[in-house]
Amino acid sequence: MTETPLLDTPELAGRRVLLGLTGGIACYKAAELCRLLVRSGAQVRVAMTHAACRFITPLTMQALCGQPVFTSQWDARPHNHMAHIELGREAELILVAPASADFIAQLAGGRADELLALLCLARPDGVPLLLAPAMNRQMWQHPATQRNVHQVSADGASVLGVASGAQACGEVGEGRMLAPEQLLQCVTAALAPKSLAGLRVLISAGPTFEAIDPVRGITNLSSGKMGFAMARAAFEAGAQVQLVAGPVHVATPYGVQRTDVTSALQMHAAVMEYATQADIFIATAAVADWRPAEKAAQKIKKDGSGDTPALHFVENPDILADVALSPRAVAGQLFCVGFAAESENLLEYAAAKRQRKGVPLLAANIGAATFGRDDNALLLVDESGTQQLPRASKRVLAQRLIAEIARRLPGAAAA
Ligand code: C5P
Repeated sequence: MTETPLLDTPELAGRRVLLGLTGGIACYKAAELCRLLVRSGAQVRVAMTHAACRFITPLTMQALCGQPVFTSQWDARPHNHMAHIELGREAELILVAPASADFIAQLAGGRADELLALLCLARPDGVPLLLAPAMNRQMWQHPATQRNVHQVSADGASVLGVASGAQACGEVGEGRMLAPEQLLQCVTAALAPKSLAGLRVLISAGPTFEAIDPVRGITNLSSGKMGFAMARAAFEAGAQVQLVAGPVHVATPYGVQRTDVTSALQMHAAVMEYATQADIFIATAAVADWRPAEKAAQKIKKDGSGDTPALHFVENPDILADVALSPRAVAGQLFCVGFAAESENLLEYAAAKRQRKGVPLLAANIGAATFGRDDNALLLVDESGTQQLPRASKRVLAQRLIAEIARRLPGAAAA
């Protein structure tokens, strides 16, 4: 089962988003997207092509965004009576969802037959243009469309998706528009400060599962939420993100590469390999300290005697400590961040753990029972002392922690 991502995007409050709709059945999803943006506090303006108006009415979009909807470049309502200039000037970001094959072709050719294409062409420098294509799989795969997608990307637009699956035409394949929640993530990512631009971030997340026999094992209550929130925040900050996840039920954030593992040994192997290419390692995983010395080949059976089986354990490798000893980390090219969950003596234990693991920064959970919750509070411990990140949703806390990591990177400008 995959959980719906949290609708926790306070950073969109007051941001000015221009949502463009072109002709396609995915217009019905644009209505939901509009609602999500508005619920997140964004000020949404909507522009629709004439083809889009055949799939969904401007009235529907007007009711959802609470603003007049624009469909014509001859509309005299904007201040200077030039809708195509004024609407683009007002926006901090333009998202066209759905973007039809024809619309992408128009942009690729620099044509501007209708208001929405005019807006895209006339948008001021620095205003991101996001396109969420939606079309039949053969239209998507057609060399002309692929050429146009390549061209608009080269011209600076971000092409989002596409997703694969069942299509309205009855076919199955690539060409579906991303889900509204994913598009919301793309908008927050595009508007976020790029404090980790171009860096490669490796994150371990979730619990591990240590098998006893084919049907039993030892695990813990880690949900993976903090690690996945860190992955999302790192991607939004401009990083290339590789997540190594134990068994969790959390949706992969948009743009993040994910490798699933089960045991601590598997997590160790995957992390050590990715660490050779990373600039930052963030160890949020709750790794089992021990594993059963042997996994029984068959299910261990009760024999009716009342005897209980004895389990013998061996210690798992400490992934974080090993990464901190790897050549890139020792050379100062890989910045390592640990997490700690302590039930007592938080500061003392966290400081000792940071030293023992040989990492520059450790984030200690303040208060017990953070596992599975949607909020958290952290005490950051580094060589110069401690700093509290007050209680907040894991999403917001992850954004703050990413900013703190960026500030501490070698070569970062002093705050
Ligand atoms: O030793 P402890 O489990 O309290 O340390 C917590 C930190 O160390 C976390 O960042 C966790 O991801 C990491 N860790 C690890 N490998 C282990 C145990 C912990 O990477 N075997």
